[in-house]
This record gives sequence, structure tokens and C-alpha cells, in this order.
Amino acid sequence: MPSVYIKTYGCQMNERDSEAVAAQLQRRGYSIAESEDSADIVLLNTCSVRDLAEQKALGKMRAVAADVRRSRKNVVLGFLGCMAQSRGEELIDKLPDVDLIVGTQKIHRIGDYIDEVLNGKREKVVEVGEEEGSQMAIREHLLDGRGPKAVSAFVSIMQGCNQRCSFCIVPHTRGRERCRPIDDIVQECRELAQQGVKEVTLLGQIVTSYGRGVIEEKGGKSPFVQLLEAVHQVEGIERIRFTAPHPKGYGDDLVEAYGRLPKLVESAHIPMQSGSNRILKLMGRGHTREKYLGIVKKLREVKPEIGICTDIIVGFPGETDEDFQQTVRLVEEAQFDQAFIFKYSPRQGTKAASMPEQIPQEVKEERHQYLLNLMNRVGSERYKRFVDRKVQILVEGPSKKNPERLMGRTRCNRIVVFEGSPRHIGNLLDVKITRAGTFTLYGDPVIFDE
Ligand code: SAH
Ligand code: F3S
Repeated sequence: MPSVYIKTYGCQMNERDSEAVAAQLQRRGYSIAESEDSADIVLLNTCSVRDLAEQKALGKMRAVAADVRRSRKNVVLGFLGCMAQSRGEELIDKLPDVDLIVGTQKIHRIGDYIDEVLNGKREKVVEVGEEEGSQMAIREHLLDGRGPKAVSAFVSIMQGCNQRCSFCIVPHTRGRERCRPIDDIVQECRELAQQGVKEVTLLGQIVTSYGRGVIEEKGGKSPFVQLLEAVHQVEGIERIRFTAPHPKGYGDDLVEAYGRLPKLVESAHIPMQSGSNRILKLMGRGHTREKYLGIVKKLREVKPEIGICTDIIVGFPGETDEDFQQTVRLVEEAQFDQAFIFKYSPRQGTKAASMPEQIPQEVKEERHQYLLNLMNRVGSERYKRFVDRKVQILVEGPSKKNPERLMGRTRCNRIVVFEGSPRHIGNLLDVKITRAGTFTLYGDPVIFDE
């Protein structure tokens, strides 16, 4: 049977989709190749959120087409995911060597499409239509010892986003919100637990909107909180994470859930985007800096150790120095543990792309660098507080930088590197933190179970 290599760009939703595609192809008898050099089928699962991500995938495909095709004429090349969705056929015009363009709602049909190309039934496949129920199809997992994922798994709970932030391409590429039923998600978590998974990360573009308009509120609890409660009951699952929430959906029922559900870890990734109310409004975010700071405060009241991470965009159209200073002040006030800072990238077809007052690249660079430096200072201060403390980690596997050592994550999502033994992998373990790097902690196991 042929072998397939999948390279993934972008967010965890894409990682999850790629995993489901790989699992499906493996079930059909394909083997998974470690690189494009030995693969019969090369698939790039793409991201459109910023221009850089698109350029990377285009560059990669150009290189693969030039190198691989020269020596092996029959290799199948495909673009999957968000860029396939937003650009469609245009990608084949650009890169005629490409055989498959498969959008976000058709990705689960990839096995059939590859068969059709291999059997010569279709020369080129371009499938970017909508498909009802496609959110149910991302279900298969690859847990057979392929590294870290065996203890921790991603579970897709919904697809799409109705928010339409003015800078964001995601509503175009992922479509409208569509959720899976609670029972189906719980069943998947049960199956994962039976296979040794201890941690699940519930995934969606805007998980706090989960079930809105489909599942009723019960006792003041949003459908998302009801889902958290249901997953919490799954035996064997010890930790629950989720991404990405939206501040406007971070209600008191969710804040309160952190105090009530012990498996819900002390970690939250809440995109704030800007600290200026004027810019937030232009972004169409539906929240203010006060609302945002209010959530951070409430969460820290319920869970003082919670790790809070955010996304920030600098250089949104019309962002003045004063707007930027408000973002700076919000970062200082909120004392984030980590922040992903992005330079605004105009996306075709979005409202912000045609706004006047686009910000020059050098101003974006300057603001980006300033915030990175600030975050390094804020973040490392927060990491230092862990030294000499005992923390619980879930051991995922060898450290990427130094495979002699192991790595795990604390409940508040900090990476801890330590010298352990292979039997620690997949287990919860107490370690004492001995040293803090900028975004890594180093520790020693405190309890040896020998
Ligand atoms: N809710 C989604 C958002 C996806 S995009 C999720 O986190 O899964 C992830 C982040 O990319 C956003 O929070 C935003 O900070 C950034 N982003 C989105 N569109 C962007 C653009 N046009 N330019 C720069 N950054 C952008
Ligand atoms: Fe994008 Fe805003 Fe939705 S950032 S994914 S449109 S919440």
C-alpha cells in the first residue's frame, strides 16, 4: 500500500484534522511516512490566518513539486484545510502539479479522493463545498505510540465561528458554527480514556459558543458548561482543557466551573486582541478591556494559580500610539503568563482589509518587538515563582530539545523538563521545580514509585 506524509500548518484544530486524516488513511491500509522524501502521497494541511502561513505552505508545495516529482512522477500532491477552502481551484492554476484541493468540510473524504486519483477515475479533485454534519466526522485518533499524543488527546467539539471579527478569515474558511452532541463527545472521551488517555483538550474556533441555539441553558449553565460537566464524569480522564474561548462567552457559570470541577485545569487561553476599546470595536470583538480584565480577576479569585495566556494583534488599521499604549498597559495589568503576539495581516475579503489607515510594516515590527520584550519580562517573573515548589505534571514523553530528558505539563500548562525514566511517561507525577527558564521550568521527581 502507498505511504502518506502529512504536514500541518496553523492551529490545534488543524493538528486534530490531520490526525483524523492520518488515522483514516492508516485504517485503509496506507502507511504514514516521516517525510516527503519517501512518501507516495504528500498532503499539506494549510492555514490562512496570516499571509506568512499561506506563503510557507505555498513555498513548501513548490519545493516538493520541484524535488519529488522530478524523481517520482506518480507522487500525489494535495492541499487540505483553510487555504484549500479559501483559494480553491486557483491553487491548481498556480501550481499545476497539485492533484487534490480539499476544503475544511470535505477533509474526512480524503481517502476516497486519493483512491479516485490513484485509480485514474479523476485527474484532479477540487472539493470545497459545504457538507452538513461534517463536524461529526473528525473522530478517529492515532494513539499507537506516536509520541506525546498518547496521554493527551484533542477532541473536536464544534466547527466554524459566527463572530466575524473584522480581521479574521476563519468564518470564511471554517463556515458557520456547527456542534457535535454532548453524548457523542462524551463517548469519544470514554474511548480515549480506555486507551490510556488522561487529558483531553476540547477544540473549536469559539468553544464558549458551543451548542448556542441548539442546546438549552439549564439552571443558568450554558451548553458549554454542561458539556464540561459531562466530560468531567468520564472515568480515567484526569484533566480537561479547552481552546479557544471568546471573552464575551466567559460567563460566571464558566468561571464558577473552575472552582467546582477539579479536572478542569487551572489554565485559560483567552484572546484579548487589543487593550483599546476603540480598536476592539473596530475589530468587532464584542468585548471591552474592562470586561476582559474582569474575567481575569474573577478567574484568579477562584483559582489563584491559574495560568492565563492570550492572543494580541498589533498594527490593526487605525491603531494609534495611544491605542497601542493601552494594549501595553493591559498586558502589565493582566500579568499574563504567556501571550501570542501577531502583526496584523490583511486577509482578502475581510472587513479590516479594506479599512483606511493601514499601519506601515515598520510600525507593526516595532510594536511587535516591544510587546515581545515586555511579555518576556512579565512571563519570566511569573515562571520564577514556581522555583522550590512542588507541582503535579502529566508526563508526555521525551523533551524535544533534549531527548535524554522527559517533559510534562503542569495543570496550568507550563512545560517542565526533568530527568525521569520511561515508566513515568503517561503518568501524573509530582516534581519539585529547581529552576525557571523564560518559558520552561526544570524539576526533579519528588516521589519515586519503585
Ligand atoms: N478563535 C480562534 C482564532 C483563530 S486565529 C482560535 O484561537 O482558534 C488565532 C489568532 O490569530 C487570533 O486570536 C488572532 O490573535 C490572530 N489573528 C487572526 N487573524 C489575524 C490577522 N488577520 N492578522 C494577524 N493575526 C490574526
Ligand atoms: Fe476569528 Fe473572531 Fe471567530 S478571531 S475564529 S472570528 S471569534
